[in-house]
Amino acid sequence: MEYRLKNTVSKDAFRYGYLLNKIYPYIRPFWGRIIINLIIAIPLGLLDGVVAFSLKPYMDLVINGNPSVTYTILGHDVQVQSSFAAIIPIAIILFAAFQGILKYVSHYLTDWLGQRISNSLKVDLFKKLTSLDPQFYDVNSSGLVLTRFLSDPDAASKNIISNLQTFISTAFGIVGLVAVLLYNSWQLAIVGVTVMGLAITPVTFIRKKIKQVSNASMVVGGNMTTNFNETFAGNKIVAAYNLQNDQNKKFEHQIHQQFDLAMSLTKRVGWMSPIMYFICSIGIALVFWYGTHLILTGVLTAGSMMSFVTSLLLLYKPVKNLGNTLTGLQGTFVAMGRVFELFDLVPYIHDKENALELDGLHRDIYFNNISFEYEPEIPVLKNINLRVNKNETLALVGNSGGGKSTIVSLIPRFYDVTKGSVEFDGVDIRNYTLKSLRNQISFVFQDNYLFSGTIKDNILMGNEHATDEQIQKVVQMAHLDEFIATLDKGLDTYVGERGTTLSGGQRQRVAIARAMLKDAPIVILDEATSALDNQSEAIVQKALDNLIRNKTVFVIAHRLSTIKNADRIAVINEGELAELGTHEELMQINNGKYKHLYEMQFKKQEEIC
Ligand SMILES: Nc1ncnc2c1ncn2[C@@H]1O[C@H](COP(=O)(O)OP(=O)(O)OP(=O)(O)O)[C@@H](O)[C@H]1O
Ligand SMILES: [Mg+2]
Repeated sequence: MEYRLKNTVSKDAFRYGYLLNKIYPYIRPFWGRIIINLIIAIPLGLLDGVVAFSLKPYMDLVINGNPSVTYTILGHDVQVQSSFAAIIPIAIILFAAFQGILKYVSHYLTDWLGQRISNSLKVDLFKKLTSLDPQFYDVNSSGLVLTRFLSDPDAASKNIISNLQTFISTAFGIVGLVAVLLYNSWQLAIVGVTVMGLAITPVTFIRKKIKQVSNASMVVGGNMTTNFNETFAGNKIVAAYNLQNDQNKKFEHQIHQQFDLAMSLTKRVGWMSPIMYFICSIGIALVFWYGTHLILTGVLTAGSMMSFVTSLLLLYKPVKNLGNTLTGLQGTFVAMGRVFELFDLVPYIHDKENALELDGLHRDIYFNNISFEYEPEIPVLKNINLRVNKNETLALVGNSGGGKSTIVSLIPRFYDVTKGSVEFDGVDIRNYTLKSLRNQISFVFQDNYLFSGTIKDNILMGNEHATDEQIQKVVQMAHLDEFIATLDKGLDTYVGERGTTLSGGQRQRVAIARAMLKDAPIVILDEATSALDNQSEAIVQKALDNLIRNKTVFVIAHRLSTIKNADRIAVINEGELAELGTHEELMQINNGKYKHLYEMQFKKQEEIC
């Protein structure tokens, strides 16, 4: 299964059976209400027919002045007296009231159902998004995912109920009105209905166009959101490099694209309504022509003609609606296709069946001849063999882009190896549950992500059950206490999204406190101090020293002291393990990579310090 979301409609957009099957579990809990809603749609649709029908006795009794008339309804003769005419105004009001109540109930139910179904879809979709591994986020733009997340579930669920409802009420409206037509004159009805039928055929031609435009607007919408996110997250770069104009232009271009797309649909779809109207007028003209003939030859009464023409005029709206509803339903299926495309993604990284619980590290971590590639055929790590003992600290050094971050990201299975295996105590980590594996690992990155909330909230993410005392302890060990003391609200100080209101070093120490609270036996530090000045680096370093005591540690560092203090050093060069040993051992190698690195970079630090 490919992770990269197609910019287009999923291949399933026209597999109605598949889609209905997929959405069924979301609809099932609300069956009762859905049925009620759809049943209400029936009288709502039929009411127009009743009004049209009542015109016949009105015309025959009042306009033509007959004292009474007899109608045959479903084989029964019904005699209607002229006093019936007086009831009609009252009936109209009662009907309107009745219709109003039904409309309200149906509107309420439609909204309620749409919202509920959309919510449960969104909840599940969010769960799906959190279950997907980093690779999914590598290959899909934030805008595309966000747009899909925000608009598709609504389009898929809200519209399906309202479209179904409209479809039923419209269909019954049509049935009712056609019945009135047939009752009044079957000859005229054939003429009228045939023409109406002709009028809606163009709808079927635009299905494909809707799909295309919907795809394209999704792409443009996604690009817009990505642009927006980037402008937001990168606002300082935008300001520093005076990129405002470029960003604005990009956005304007996207707005134009969206406009062009919308207009191309309008161009294709907009002519439908006038054409339908035109064809219907021809139908009405034919009816008048033929109807006059029928009245003059005594086949039809004036009342019937009146009732017939009213029905025919009333019929235009539901027929047109039916066209719109079918188009709308198609849009809904397109959205559903996209939603379920996301649902159908299977995370690359997941627990295998009967996965074991990992209860800690006892002996060693072994990279057993591993190779790795992000993109097929582009090797990033090549045949690495490396054993790290329990409670050992291994420093990883090497050229930029050499694969250091990649190798450590294989330990918590952010990615899985392409070849070979990562083993804990001799067991492939793919045999363990992801949760228990990741419980054993603390990760501190160079750029630590803080979530919007308080400092305490962010620290608690390491262990939500921690007591206040434990928190105090890690705050001290992370050398955060002095900083926290300067804050009015202390630990309850709110940090902005991504922790933007803290300095780089403060953020890092919060992340270290978080990692300390987790107290996992394996610690991974990826350039955890590289963004700091000497003074704050010294503080963070002390915090780190506290964090890594008695732990198995992987540290990617540029500080000589950290590297020298490590038990062993691994030099990762162009994806290969070039050298492995202690500082002293590696310095012995003539023309060695480490020696070279040391002489080029680290020695200078030593001279400065
Ligand atoms: N998510 C990704 N998708 C595709 N390629 C990636 C991804 N992350 C890294 N790479 C590529 O993999 C290679 C190794 O990257 P990695 O981040 O592991 O290097 P590094 O040794 O940590 O470098 P640095 O010292 O600069 O942090 C690089 O060529 C990089 O371009
Ligand atoms: Mg790196």
